[in-house]
Amino acid sequence: MAKVKSLADLRRMKEELQSKMDLREKSNDPESLVQIKVAMATCGIASGAKEVMEFLIEETAKRGIKTIVTQTGCMGYCYAEPTIEVKVPGKEPIVFGDVDIKKADQIVEKYIKNGELVDGIIPVNYKTLD
Ligand code: FES
Repeated sequence: MAKVKSLADLRRMKEELQSKMDLREKSNDPESLVQIKVAMATCGIASGAKEVMEFLIEETAKRGIKTIVTQTGCMGYCYAEPTIEVKVPGKEPIVFGDVDIKKADQIVEKYIKNGELVDGIIPVNYKTLD
């Protein structure tokens, strides 16, 4: 555990703990929240997925959108990294490709907040088993 050397350290630790507690509370009913999975295979990380994930975590919180942002492994779309899957409550999940910060901003503002479709959707080529 990191040592507390200043009031700023203490505040930072409080914020980190608070966000972990929020996530735990949210995880009791994930279907009621927007769920975003960011593909973090090597190809995704090399294409900027980490920055996109940080942007999505920060911006959805700032904009008051109750969201769980998690990372996942290979989604099979090396050619379109970074890719994210967005599941809005009551809708089918959609995978977006070539997501940079600008595209992530559009996805949050247009698709998640207003339900408008955004360019860059990757057609689904698989079905999960129930
Ligand atoms: S290794 Fe790139 S999508 Fe699987």
